[in-house]
Amino acid sequence: MTTTLGLSDKQLEQFDRDGFLAVPDFFSLQEAAELKAAAARQLDAIDLSTHPKTRFVTGDDQGKKNDEYFLGSGDKVCSFFEVDAFDAEGRLVVDDKARAINKIGHALHDLDPVFKAFSVNDRIAAVMRSLSFKDPRVLQSMLIFKQPKIGGEVPPHQDSTFLYTDPPSAVGLWFAMEDCTLENGCMWFLPGSHKTIPIWKRMVRRADNMGTEFIHIDTPVADPPESAYVSVPVSAGTLVLIHGAVYHKSGHNYSAKSRWIYTFHCIEGDEAGHVYPANNWLQSPNKPFTKLYPVAQAQ
Ligand code: FE2
Repeated sequence: MTTTLGLSDKQLEQFDRDGFLAVPDFFSLQEAAELKAAAARQLDAIDLSTHPKTRFVTGDDQGKKNDEYFLGSGDKVCSFFEVDAFDAEGRLVVDDKARAINKIGHALHDLDPVFKAFSVNDRIAAVMRSLSFKDPRVLQSMLIFKQPKIGGEVPPHQDSTFLYTDPPSAVGLWFAMEDCTLENGCMWFLPGSHKTIPIWKRMVRRADNMGTEFIHIDTPVADPPESAYVSVPVSAGTLVLIHGAVYHKSGHNYSAKSRWIYTFHCIEGDEAGHVYPANNWLQSPNKPFTKLYPVAQAQ
């Protein structure tokens, strides 16, 4: 059980070696149930009659996105549909709207009281302190539902491609609200890849403000072989820490069980000397990214 003491030396060694770390029982099943109830409330609040039919597409298709809804979601709570929730004519083919949503994001940690309380507190601050963060900022919080039968895969990627800082600093905190298994689309990692593969591309807002594109900042790297990945099935209540440079992915959910997770990321803020580029896709124009450490400690 991880407490406000943060991570143990053994856990830190493992995270440094592998680029990821599963921390079982980081939060209780009671907390998981409360998060699921809050997630269900977010789903209930979606009004399909007025909602933009924005599907969440990962991979290089994302580079072609021209989608103000997506680009404006950094400081809001927005929802995105599964690709397979629509037919060729754009009609919803899933009868339950809740089962058609791929994810909700990206400011739950700021705007939803349950996720705010879960994300910004001493327990999380202790984890980031043990990772030697000086000015951790919380951003890009998401509920990812990986719905039964249609929950889409997430292709291999490095998180710092999307949440770049100079120098890179992103760490993902990924919370299993339900058991995540080989059948319902658990995470897969390429152990140690954070040490061997640099962040070689960034997803940025296009200069003409028409969506996003990828730009190369290092020599392009071919996708590592599938066989090099290890699966990381975890139980509800587990925290998985994800280094911003480690390659990871998750599979399609062909099972009858959902795979609800909550996740957010931390980056080093400007008080730690890290620069958050103005052309990163995610922006929060009206307020700074949420500080994790109390102001008094940061001074
Ligand atoms: Fe990721």
